Amino acid sequence: MDRPAVVPLAGLPERVTIYEVGARDGLQNESALVPTEVKAELVTRLLDAGLPIVEATSFVHPRWVPQLADAAELMSLLVDRLGDRGRDLPVLVPNERGLDRALELGCRHIAIFGSATETFAAKNLNSTLDGQFAMFEPTVRRAREAGVDVRAYVSMCFGDPWEGAVPVAQVVDVGKRLFDLGASQLSIGDTIGVGTAGHVTALVDAFVEAGLGTEHLAMHFHDTYGQALANTLAALRAGITTFDASAGGLGGCPYAKSATGNLATEDLVWFLTGLGIEHGVDLDALVATSAWLAGHLGRPSPSAVVRALSG
Ligand code: HMG
Ligand code: MG
Repeated sequence: MDRPAVVPLAGLPERVTIYEVGARDGLQNESALVPTEVKAELVTRLLDAGLPIVEATSFVHPRWVPQLADAAELMSLLVDRLGDRGRDLPVLVPNERGLDRALELGCRHIAIFGSATETFAAKNLNSTLDGQFAMFEPTVRRAREAGVDVRAYVSMCFGDPWEGAVPVAQVVDVGKRLFDLGASQLSIGDTIGVGTAGHVTALVDAFVEAGLGTEHLAMHFHDTYGQALANTLAALRAGITTFDASAGGLGGCPYAKSATGNLATEDLVWFLTGLGIEHGVDLDALVATSAWLAGHLGRPSPSAVVRALSG
């Protein structure tokens, strides 16, 4: 059986947008260095599989994330091959230096990434919690002046490996401040995958109560504790329609040791298909892509659906 039976549940959205992060969140955490040409093929295959948004790479400091040190080469290759579709691939940008590098290549969608906790701001951005806003403010302002769309991520929303529990009010405060800099969407990150379904509902409700509606929110689940699909169902019920996922379940964060892979895109696609929720993705093409990439990485995909369908 290569597809689930379709049995809808009442009260869920008819369609969702999958925001694919495998080429960025996935590859940033792989010990194997993947050749630029393979990354370009990965991004192209993900687009061809029907994924509407494919985050391609990061313009961060190459010493901090050596796996993505070829960001400029990759983006110029993709822009050469794909034209405007290449310029529309989102890229991570932490600061004005990263923005300059992205603008030079004509990138039209960037994502900043803030932390809900003091410790992770230090570990991931070499900043303080307040200092990160001083870094992002001119970055977002100049991006917007250049006509570039900005997504904002907020990390450690459900718990932090150094600080433990993170209060909902603190996450909402940081998330709103990041969004209000001028972002079009806020992606709520469970960086280390510790969240559970009731917590997801409470956090989404708190954002909505603070004036940030579900049309501006996305969920970014890592699957460390196997909670990502249960959390997705809670988020769907709360009205969320954009979900980040990573082909094959690759991923993690090099500056959060307990982070493992993102929710696998294949697992999400199987789940949404069974619920009769439209997503536009060709599951066979996606599984073939993850199996092909696993060959390059020298290890099998952690996605249950990839394993079941390519065995
Ligand atoms: P810093 O060392 O404090 O930077 O790093 P600085 O501003 O002091 O500058 C030092 C030198 O770096 C200067 O060069 C700058 O030009 C250069 P020098 O004058 O000494 O020759 N520099 C840069 N070079 C290239 N690109 C740049 C750049 N910026 C400065 N953008 C910095 C601060 C933010 C740059 C650093 O901490 C960094 O790159 N951090 C990135 C960490 C990262 O990428 N983490 C993973 C992504 S986040 C994530 O995965 C979570 C997410 O998935 C959501 C979730 O799961 O929760 C999004
Ligand atoms: Mg992540």
